[in-house]
Amino acid sequence: MRIDKLLANMGYGSRKEVKDLLKKGNVRCNDKVIKSPQTHVNPGKSVVTVFGETVEYKEAVYLMMNKPPGYVSATEDQRDLTVVDLLEPEDAVLNPFPVGRLDKDTEGLLLITNDGKLAHQLLSPKKHVGKTYYATIEGRVTEEDKKAFKKGVTLDDGYITQPADLNILMQGDFSEIELTITEGKFHQVKRMFESVGKKVTYLKRLSMGSLELDSELQTGEYRELTEEELNYLQNEHIKK
Ligand code: URA
Repeated sequence: MRIDKLLANMGYGSRKEVKDLLKKGNVRCNDKVIKSPQTHVNPGKSVVTVFGETVEYKEAVYLMMNKPPGYVSATEDQRDLTVVDLLEPEDAVLNPFPVGRLDKDTEGLLLITNDGKLAHQLLSPKKHVGKTYYATIEGRVTEEDKKAFKKGVTLDDGYITQPADLNILMQGDFSEIELTITEGKFHQVKRMFESVGKKVTYLKRLSMGSLELDSELQTGEYRELTEEELNYLQNEHIKK
């Protein structure tokens, strides 16, 4: 790979800025100063330094975000801010995208990556990856709702949902629940509750497959997945 591309990918600036770094003799490959942007290096094998600091080469990025309300799950939008707008520039250089959509007003776990293969595995309806949500509901959620969700309910467009697990945390005029679904139809959780005559007033995703939202992350914060989290996700879904 060309050195200018590698450095630009790793967030050392635009191709032009990287060219300047090279010209000034600030970049070394295996201890030799290199000045030509066309020089080829072997990512992962060649030891590249900038100002004496080793460049960690990464091809993929995996970020866990606690999505705040008010942002859309997209890489760009004409009207609204997107979750990618919340990333530091160095975390956005590899063009990561959100895996699946949370509504603009939904909070919680969002995986942001440039690994299309993993994204596909997590979203494929055939893989039945469980997604667990916490919600507050206007109305009394009942054992009948639980049974109905287990059997499958009919949404406003006639679609019958796959079996889902409803756990009632608090029952009253306002209820608190956790719901695990294995598909991702548009507004699915809200529409499932509408089908039993109730309204979701707050929605937060807690987990997706083996990946659980880090409770230390405030809304709008994100961090890289740990190696363990990534290994679990990949072993659980990608090799099936
Ligand atoms: N279901 C919804 O209704 N909204 C979301 O954002 C996610 C699941």
